Amino acid sequence: MHQTLNFKSMDGLLKGKRGIIFGALDEKSMAWHIAEKVVEHGAKITLSNTAMAIRFGKVKELGQKLNAEVIPADATNIDDLEQVFTKSMDVLGGKIDFVLHSIGMSLNIRKKRPYTDVNYDFYMKTLDISAISFHKIIQTAYKLDAMNEWGSIVAITYIAAQRTFDRYNDMADAKALLESIARSWGYYYGKKRKVRINTVSQSPTPTTAGQGIDGFDVFYQYADKLSPLGNADADDLANYVVTLFSDLTRKVTMQNLYHDGGFSSMGMSDELMQEISNKLNKD
Ligand code: NAI
Repeated sequence: MHQTLNFKSMDGLLKGKRGIIFGALDEKSMAWHIAEKVVEHGAKITLSNTAMAIRFGKVKELGQKLNAEVIPADATNIDDLEQVFTKSMDVLGGKIDFVLHSIGMSLNIRKKRPYTDVNYDFYMKTLDISAISFHKIIQTAYKLDAMNEWGSIVAITYIAAQRTFDRYNDMADAKALLESIARSWGYYYGKKRKVRINTVSQSPTPTTAGQGIDGFDVFYQYADKLSPLGNADADDLANYVVTLFSDLTRKVTMQNLYHDGGFSSMGMSDELMQEISNKLNKD
């Protein structure tokens, strides 16, 4: 039978829900904005990041502000991930309703190895950290039976999974894998526990990972000029992800959802047309 959903207030969309947020480094991080927003909407959460990020970033500060335990974990390490789920269920007082994967890193990008000359050890690390970690997080939850029914798992991705962007390098391949993992696990976890799994494809956003991409400012400006609504920022993303963690989207699963001001459907905008024709007239 279809259950009627009754929301008294939009503010309490996540009231009573327990969540784990991976990937908040500092106040620019997407995960930082999402953590703040889910707590604002009534959720209780734990935060996780690498020991190094906890030491050098500001996640402890966020933990204090949101009254959230910070649990160190390398998201490529299964033992660490088991700790995160076990400890989170313990401190939050029950099974988990939502998980955010907001993790990405490429040593090829960091060390300026172009796509035509990647170091394959770095490449494997990119895939492990930026994509396979999503599989590992979900498999850990699945084996521990750590998610409540109708739970929601979201990872943040980029349109370079579908289209080629010069300089996005091996992260493009990682994002394609990440999105495929969401579809595959969405099937298995949906069948087992009605857990939904989606990726959200976000506009270029000025964060530590984002600004690490060579030519980030050009990516940003190009997308902003092409998108009828302009780029989506981290706060817009946080609002969208709240809906995906809420009971309002219980039948949305195995999707790659564009959150990009319309960028993904555009070919040419008047603004870009003007700029290029001005340049042509000058030459
Ligand atoms: P960020 O640098 O704030 O976040 C990346 C996080 O990954 C950091 O907290 C870092 O400590 C964590 N991380 C790295 N290696 C890890 C590991 N082994 N285990 C656990 N955590 C690890 O940057 P941002 O932009 O908030 O990145 C979040 C996600 O959003 C990434 O998946 C990124 O690819 C994606 N994204 C970013 C866009 C942008 O323009 N900034 C656009 C579209 C997607």
